Amino acid sequence: MRAIIPVLTIDGPSGSGKGTISRIVATRLGWHYLDSGALYRVVGYAAGRDGADVADHAAMAALAERTVIRFVTSGDAEPRVLVDGVDATDAIRTETAGAAASAIAAIPVVRNALLARQHAFRAPPGLVADGRDMGTVVFPDAPCKVFLTASADQRAQRRYKQLKEKGLSVSMDDLLCEILARDARDAERAVAPLKPASDAVLIDTTDVPVERVVERVLTLLPDSFRP
Ligand code: DC
Repeated sequence: MRAIIPVLTIDGPSGSGKGTISRIVATRLGWHYLDSGALYRVVGYAAGRDGADVADHAAMAALAERTVIRFVTSGDAEPRVLVDGVDATDAIRTETAGAAASAIAAIPVVRNALLARQHAFRAPPGLVADGRDMGTVVFPDAPCKVFLTASADQRAQRRYKQLKEKGLSVSMDDLLCEILARDARDAERAVAPLKPASDAVLIDTTDVPVERVVERVLTLLPDSFRP
């Protein structure tokens, strides 16, 4: 049954527009939405909360397995993320949390522990899955795969705007350095590195308005998937 539930995978580096595009497309289709990056961010948050050592891989895998994570959605707005009942939405969105998530995401047992949790999001009528390895590892049988890119400068500008809107202060130069460091770590790790699936459609979102990208993604879906 699960195999015939359609999945649209949207992978790409930080700031490529994955989150925004995925949420809008999921809302238009009436499909579920998986923000897989939030799962890695939550493990980093839980490690900080518990004072757990990130170098202890078994402890990180245990946190990935047992932490209760709930997404509260409201239209195409960013979902609130409840971690063991506590709203951690803002705490997991900082650049520090992103860097911790990227380090934890390189631990194979953590990725393994999160695999079944990600598969559980595949429910009728369909799923839009956003991340780094959605099309390559988590949903390799997805009938429709997209890989979004954008220039590093524009990705840094988007992150800057997002963080500013959340009242977080950051320097543009620091942000660009962090984004480049995170991309390198995500792309060079041994397990499930950031890379397009061989059957993914590449879309460069540099200077392309959100609505145009959404339309392009929707045109990739067979008519039978549309509501
Ligand atoms: O998409 P994001 O910025 O919230 O992701 C945070 C980090 O989590 C990212 O730097 C790498 C990791 N990640 C991953 O390894 N695999 C995914 N499918 C999603 C995120």
